[in-house]
Amino acid sequence: MKGLFGKLGIVCMTACCLALIADAAVAQEQAQKQTTPKLHKELVIKRGVSPEAARCIECHSKKTPGIVDSWKLGKMAHAAVSCYDCHVVEKSSPMASQCSGIRGSNIYISPMVSSKVCSRCHPQEVEQFLKSGHAKLASAPVVDNKKMINLIYHLEGAGFIGNQKTNPSNWASRQAGCQMCHGGQVELGPDHKPIKNTWPGGVGTRYPDGSIGTCTVCHTRHQFSVTEARKPEACASCHLGPDHPDIEIYMESKHGQIFATHGEDWEWDSSPDAWQPGDYTAPTCATCHMSGIGDLTTTHNINERLKWDLVHKKSVIRSGERGDGEKGAKLMRQVCANCHGPTQINKEINTLDDAVALYNIYWDGAVKMKKELAAKGLLGKDPWKDGFQELMYYLWHHTGRRARQGAAMNGPDYAHWHGFFQIFQVYKDLQQIYDWRMKNNKIEDLSTVMSSGPL
Ligand code: HEC
Ligand code: HEC
Ligand code: HEC
Ligand code: HEC
Ligand code: HEC
Ligand code: HEC
Ligand code: HEC
Ligand code: HEC
Repeated sequence: MKGLFGKLGIVCMTACCLALIADAAVAQEQAQKQTTPKLHKELVIKRGVSPEAARCIECHSKKTPGIVDSWKLGKMAHAAVSCYDCHVVEKSSPMASQCSGIRGSNIYISPMVSSKVCSRCHPQEVEQFLKSGHAKLASAPVVDNKKMINLIYHLEGAGFIGNQKTNPSNWASRQAGCQMCHGGQVELGPDHKPIKNTWPGGVGTRYPDGSIGTCTVCHTRHQFSVTEARKPEACASCHLGPDHPDIEIYMESKHGQIFATHGEDWEWDSSPDAWQPGDYTAPTCATCHMSGIGDLTTTHNINERLKWDLVHKKSVIRSGERGDGEKGAKLMRQVCANCHGPTQINKEINTLDDAVALYNIYWDGAVKMKKELAAKGLLGKDPWKDGFQELMYYLWHHTGRRARQGAAMNGPDYAHWHGFFQIFQVYKDLQQIYDWRMKNNKIEDLSTVMSSGPL
């Protein structure tokens, strides 16, 4: 808004000066010609729906009233964006089918609706989203990464004890787990409908027309509410548990305490970019990672405000497809500066940097031991039957992530008791196995790690 008023000011001044030296009417016309396209946004909202679109709503209000009831509460229904706008596809679409209500007509629909559909009216949000870790990178572990695919089908799918890939149960772990958070590749049958339970899926779902991403993970259908996406619960269905307990960390942070105490009284429905401190008194996940605040505008690229990679084995400053860490650090600092002074912000940022450095010391030490064991042939071929390698997994994937993410988002219990406290214990066990193998020049007979690991 500030920018808009600034531009208007300049336009008025230019117009006044010109009026002195030339014919006022011509000058004004010129000024208008120059500036009009910049000042006006092209947004056409056609209220009312076509007879075809009305038929979808009428029949579905009887056949699937739950869907119509939630749709009509959303802002898009107020703007008359209806079933027809999101579900009708070209006959040539690989996903085109017909429900019983339109069978035999020339209208084709799909129950699958990807971010590409939304991009017709929300191009900016979709463009940002597609650059983020929530899009292609999110479904990569489920679709592209051979190691993960081995984990999903061979190990979790009981392939290693003979369960064949042709047996539907081999897929159950993926369908019930990874796919619902990360998203997978949707496969179609001859009727153009999804098969093998590959749909619906999580945030990075890949659709048969090549499009990527399910926007409903944060704005659930069919209300598509901004209020919902601003609440921490919108992230909690995926960002939880032993390996990335972000909602748990948030709820134990001071910010979470304030949300839990006062959140009911906050203003959640302000228009985009206008949701500012005052509407709320502490940040939610969205405030720090996505929403406009102060001079920052809303972004659907959740990588934009991050410095470190706190999810992989070794923490490095983000670069390439994972974002620009140096820039991210500045943007995140700008978020805090709306509510905190420089002394506390510096403390928090230094603490995170130190926590990352401390974790990396442990990780580098473990890598060194592993290399030495490997050089002497003292690593088991199957990492899941080898105590050293199993523990090393828990070091980074569970305890290490908890320590790093707890430190990043001020969850002291996760940074310490579920984090660094367990890291040193796991490390000491790694050392003990290392020492024993080096001394005896052989691998111990049984894995010393319980299947549950250090939860
Ligand atoms: C703003 C776009 C939008 C509008 C409007 C919309 N939908 Fe949807 N619908 C979606 C999205 C997104 C999904 C989830 C698709 C996915 O995961 O691939 C979906 C899923 C569905 C599904 C399949 C999931 C299920 O629960 O069975 C049905 C059925 C459906 N919509 C019916 C309707 C009907 C009926 C209307 C009109 C009252 C409607 N939709 C309006 C976007 C929309
Ligand atoms: C006369 C009633 C009627 C009309 C009109 C109608 N539908 Fe349906 N629709 C149904 C019924 C009943 C189902 C349940 C599945 C079936 O019978 O095919 C359904 C299913 C669907 C599904 C889910 C398909 C799936 O595979 O799960 C979508 C999406 C859908 N309709 C969208 C639409 C859209 C968009 C329109 C308007 C262009 C529309 N429907 C018009 C009755 C209707
Ligand atoms: C045909 C155009 C059109 C399509 C397609 C469309 N939208 Fe919208 N959307 C709008 C308009 C117009 C508004 C503003 C409505 C208002 O505030 O009055 C809007 C508003 C929204 C909002 C803000 C709601 C709020 O609570 O303030 C969200 C979120 C949203 N759309 C998500 C989506 C998603 C997700 C999809 C794809 C599944 C989608 N839209 C597809 C036109 C569209
Ligand atoms: C409860 C939801 C959920 C389930 C189930 C889940 N993940 Fe994740 N996964 C996440 C979230 C959230 C992150 C990001 C955490 C972060 O950035 O700190 C993540 C991160 C990852 C990463 C690191 C990022 C990357 O792409 O390199 C990999 C790999 C991964 N998951 C693979 C899997 C596989 C494979 C499965 C199933 C065997 C699985 N996940 C099950 C939610 C889930
Ligand atoms: C449907 C599940 C789901 C929901 C809901 C979800 N995320 Fe994620 N998020 C993921 C997955 C999966 C990843 C890991 C992506 C990958 O594999 O690289 C991820 C990664 C991230 C990352 C790290 C990105 C990277 O490249 O490392 C951030 C930050 C993040 N999410 C924030 C959020 C926030 C904030 C919300 C809520 C407003 C949210 N997420 C909602 C599934 C989800
Ligand atoms: C990780 C969670 C998350 C996902 C995934 C997500 N959104 Fe949003 N969205 C939000 C949040 C949070 C806001 C509110 C930002 C604010 O405070 O102004 C928002 C706001 C919006 C708005 C209102 C205008 C604006 O830009 O603020 C639209 C439109 C929208 N989203 C569309 C989409 C579309 C389209 C997709 C799929 C590409 C999508 N969203 C996916 C969390 C999400
Ligand atoms: C006070 C602001 C703030 C809040 C609130 C917040 N975060 Fe964060 N988050 C951060 C900071 C700071 C980092 C570390 C940034 C960096 O890399 O320097 C971070 C890191 C993350 C990461 C790790 C990304 C990676 O490297 O893999 C994820 C995932 C994440 N946040 C998700 C969430 C979720 C989900 C919520 C809500 C439950 C949430 N955050 C609440 C500030 C916040
Ligand atoms: C919308 C305002 C707001 C934003 C934005 C915000 N905070 Fe806070 N923060 C607060 C409030 C209010 C408290 C509670 C102070 C108290 O304990 O009395 C708080 C407390 C904290 C605490 C706990 C300190 C203590 O005394 O226990 C830490 C750590 C913190 N914030 C870090 C951050 C960081 C880092 C960022 C940016 C990534 C951030 N905050 C962004 C409002 C905010």
